[in-house]
Amino acid sequence: MKSSGAIQATWFEYDHYGDADVLQKRTGTLPPPGPGEVTVEVFSTSINHMEAFLRNGHEETWADDPWPRRSGSDFAGIVVAAAAGTGFGVGASVMGHVRTGAHATHLTVPAASLVVKPDRVSWEVAGGLYLAGATALETLDRLRIGSDDTVVVSAAAGGVGSIQTQLARHRGARVIGTCGDRNFDYLRQLGITPVRYGEGMADRIRRAADGPVTAYIDNFGKDGSELADALGVPARRYRSSADRRDIELSLLDDDPDAVMHGTDLLRRLAELARIGAFRLLVSGLYPLDDVVEAFEDLATMHSRGKVVLATRPVTTYRTIKARQVHEAMSGGYASLTR
Ligand SMILES: NC(=O)c1ccc[n+]([C@@H]2O[C@H](COP(=O)([O-])OP(=O)(O)OC[C@H]3O[C@@H](n4cnc5c(N)ncnc54)[C@H](OP(=O)(O)O)[C@@H]3O)[C@@H](O)[C@H]2O)c1
Repeated sequence: MKSSGAIQATWFEYDHYGDADVLQKRTGTLPPPGPGEVTVEVFSTSINHMEAFLRNGHEETWADDPWPRRSGSDFAGIVVAAAAGTGFGVGASVMGHVRTGAHATHLTVPAASLVVKPDRVSWEVAGGLYLAGATALETLDRLRIGSDDTVVVSAAAGGVGSIQTQLARHRGARVIGTCGDRNFDYLRQLGITPVRYGEGMADRIRRAADGPVTAYIDNFGKDGSELADALGVPARRYRSSADRRDIELSLLDDDPDAVMHGTDLLRRLAELARIGAFRLLVSGLYPLDDVVEAFEDLATMHSRGKVVLATRPVTTYRTIKARQVHEAMSGGYASLTR
C-alpha cells in the first residue's frame, strides 16, 4: 500500500431525516485503503436534488440504510493512498462517484469508481459531473438521440438539462429547451432554442420546432406524457421525471456492475468535457462548510448549471458575478425576443 501517512478526514452526515440543517460535520481518522481501494483528498464535490430527497425522506428507496448516513455522490481530487495494483498512484488527479459520502475532505472508494481527471477539465467541473452528467448521458443513450432528432428537454438550464442539451447538440440533434425568461440568452449561447415553460407551451414548442418533435425528456416533472403525446412524440421516445429518478438511483447503486457502468459513463463525460463537447457552468461555488447554504441554493430551482462545493480556499465572488452578468443580459434581450 502506498500512502502519505494517517489521514484525518471531515465529512457531513445526518442522524435522522430532515432539511439540510440536519447535516452534521464530523471528523475521524481513515483506515488505510483495503484491497482494490483508493483514498482521495476531495477538492470538489457537488450538490444534487437526489441527495436532498434521500436526506429528507422524500425518496424511500434506501430507507433500510443504517444511521448515521452520509451525503454526496460526485467528487474530484488527488489520490493520497492506494492499495497495490489499483493502477492509481499517490498524487494522481482523479474524478469519481460513490453511493454516498462525497461531501467530505477525504474518502476511500473502490478504484473501479475512479477515472483520471483530464488536465483541461477544471476541478470545479470535474467534481460536479457525475450524477447530473451520467443521468443526462444515459438518457440520451437509451433514447438513441442522434442527428435526425428534434428533442425537447425540460429544465434545460439546470444541472442535468444543461449537460443533456449540449450533448444532444453535439450528436447533431436539434434541441429545444424549456426555461424561464432569464435563461433565454444562456441557452441560445449553447445553441439551444429556448421556449418558456408554462401555459401555452405546446404551441410555443410547435412554433420553435417548425417540424416534427421526435423525442421529449421531462427532467422537471411537470410536463407529463400528454404534452409529448400532443406534440406527436412516440410514447417510446418520451422520458418522464420518474424515469430520471430510476436512472439516478441505478447510478448510485454500489453493485460492482452498476459501479462499472457509472464509471464508463464518467469516463465518457470526462472526455466529452475535455474536447469541449459541452461546458458545465458552475453557477454556485461554496466552501464545503457551507453545504447547507449550497443545498438551499439548489432548492430555489433556479440555480443554472451546477452547484459545487470545494475544500480549498473558495470565494463565491467569481460565480456570483458570473450569475449576475447572465441575469443582466437576459433581462434585456429575452424580453425583446419572447
Ligand atoms: N424525479 C426525481 O426523482 C428527480 C430527481 C432529480 C431531480 N428532479 C427534479 O428535476 C428538476 C431539475 O433537476 P436538476 O438537477 O437539473 O435541477 P436544477 O439544476 O435545480 O434545475 C432547475 C431548473 O429547473 C428550471 N425550472 C424551474 N421551474 C420550472 C418549471 N416550472 N418547469 C420547467 N423547468 C423549471 C429552472 O429554470 P429557470 O431558472 O429558467 O426557471 C432551472 O434551470 C428539479 O426540479 C428536481 O426536483 C427529479
